[in-house]
Amino acid sequence: MDKQGPKRYHIITFGCQMNAHDSERIAGILQSKGLTEVVQPEEADLIVINTCSIRQKAEDKFYSQIGRFRSLKQRKPSLKIAVAGCIAQREGERITKRAPYVDLVIGPQNIYAIKDISNLQGRVFTEQEVSFLDEYEYPIQRQNPVKALVNIMYGCNNFCSYCIVPYTRGRERSRVSRDILREIKELAQKGYKEVMLLGQNVNSYKDDLDFTELLIKIGEIEGIERVRFMTSHPKDLSDRLIGLFGELRSLCEHIHLPLQSGSDRILGLMNRKYTYQKYLEKILKLRSKVPEIVITTDIITGFPQETERDHQLTLEALKEIRFDGIFSFKYSVRPNTAAANLEGHLPEETKEQRLYEINSVQDIITEEKNKVLEGREVEVMVEEISDKPDFEYMGRTRGNKLVYIKTDKAISYGTFLNVIIKKAYRHSLETEV
Ligand code: 5AD
Ligand code: SF4
Repeated sequence: MDKQGPKRYHIITFGCQMNAHDSERIAGILQSKGLTEVVQPEEADLIVINTCSIRQKAEDKFYSQIGRFRSLKQRKPSLKIAVAGCIAQREGERITKRAPYVDLVIGPQNIYAIKDISNLQGRVFTEQEVSFLDEYEYPIQRQNPVKALVNIMYGCNNFCSYCIVPYTRGRERSRVSRDILREIKELAQKGYKEVMLLGQNVNSYKDDLDFTELLIKIGEIEGIERVRFMTSHPKDLSDRLIGLFGELRSLCEHIHLPLQSGSDRILGLMNRKYTYQKYLEKILKLRSKVPEIVITTDIITGFPQETERDHQLTLEALKEIRFDGIFSFKYSVRPNTAAANLEGHLPEETKEQRLYEINSVQDIITEEKNKVLEGREVEVMVEEISDKPDFEYMGRTRGNKLVYIKTDKAISYGTFLNVIIKKAYRHSLETEV
């Protein structure tokens, strides 16, 4: 690389697992170009901000961050600043206009442009669907030594009316199955025990294999003990896939299945293509296969035209289904999406109030569902050092529940323990080994 180029990089990541994985790819490219990672942005001569635009709040966070780096750059003019991710894609040149000190803008489909960071021809790379990530052979710099994120598809064709993702990550493209399987085999050889398969809508994966066939093939890879996937769309969750739970040894008893609303009218306005009843049927089928399967969901509250009655239906859905956990969000207007043009946007106070009610109902359920595990034996994979005093390690159950482990032994990451849960709280479990 050219002598003038940056030597030390720092990446800041917002948003989903897709973005987290894109950051691992960016880190891999930069390291193979000879750069080293630094923990403090002040020490870096390249700062990459990998952005999220799923809600306005995420965008606001980015613009307040970027202001901070402007003053850094004033003190160190050689500092390069790159903006990656979904805001980069959506805003493109508007970013370099608004923040002229930004050197590089790369959308999620253009992250490989960062390989030329020392001598770029141009600053804004937001072309859609330019290339397939597999065309490049750069190592991925993974955050965790035993569990890995693996892309199986990119983009989304669903156009839920609230969602920005189809505009930032483009149309659905499935990765070649051979490449996915090769990647996972290599991970197994390196000692990885768990893979999380990533796609905006994994159920519509299609190559020579479909998604269930792909899961079965991955299940044959020795060393991979746990497989999860994210995210599946309820409309595409097939009986065949449901049938694999409890059958395929490596497939964890855990599914994230975004409901969004308990009201059919709102689901219709959201363009979700299922009714609450249809969704419920899938849950019942999943539970008839694996009674204690861990199910989590996403809820949007305060969607345009949502009435008090619609809101009550969502609360009733939460009580009926009893999810293990939910991610709940106030509806946020995204420019150019279909929902942005709907009439009947709700005041912030209403959204605030409904979010509060949703969380109040769910918090009790989440805690109750965890409490059931007290005194029970579960399998935990040790994953990292504990962030809580008095505990040494953190791990996860097959259901993806966080477990704090107290021990006086040194345990290596990727170790599987069968432990008794001593205490259960809303957000975590505790055990002693
Ligand atoms: N406003 C609020 N929440 C949103 N989500 C997606 N778009 C929006 C939006 N415009 C939520 C959905 C989705 C999750 C990743 O983020 O619940 O499942
Ligand atoms: Fe991920 Fe969506 Fe945020 Fe993009 S906008 S980073 S796809 S959550």
